[in-house]
Amino acid sequence: MTTLRNCVACGLCENRQNIVCPDGDVNSPVAFVGEAPGKREDETGLPFQGRSGKVLDALLNEENISRSSIYITNTVKCRPPGNREPTKEEMAACLPNLKEELQNRRLIVALGRTAARDLLGREIKLADELNKLTTINILGKEIDMIATYHPAASFYNSKVKDALSETIRIAKKYLEGYKTASTIKI
Ligand code: URA
Repeated sequence: MTTLRNCVACGLCENRQNIVCPDGDVNSPVAFVGEAPGKREDETGLPFQGRSGKVLDALLNEENISRSSIYITNTVKCRPPGNREPTKEEMAACLPNLKEELQNRRLIVALGRTAARDLLGREIKLADELNKLTTINILGKEIDMIATYHPAASFYNSKVKDALSETIRIAKKYLEGYKTASTIKI
């Protein structure tokens, strides 16, 4: 992510207040990847600070996981105007940063369909992939990945919280001690 400072790789640079840098433990085996910064994140320069962040923090707290023990980032590091979904072009421009951030993780958690699509490189139906362990190739390394709901989806559907809690429990297994995918029961 050496290239982030003053980044002008896509048009999102035009309206940003801050580049939203990752948060948490830079060496964590587990990375959570959101879609894009919102207003609060743009103001603070940190990911998941607003309402979605509060949901994520609460879910982590329920499993006694501190935010500082995981790595939190987004597919794009600058806020899309009006909180629209980042375009494929914007995500492609930021993908080299994301790959660099993720290359040494044990588990990548894609928060929402957009993040999952970016990481898998194909269209997905989230319901079909929900909390299923798969592997993706990041810069030549096979890394475990699961897709789950974006925390914002829980504002409208309480069942989403149960699925997200399950996601956090899976992540906890990786935080407690990495085992190979075949020995992790999810
Ligand atoms: N939603 C995201 O996807 N990322 C953030 O950082 C905040 C809200």
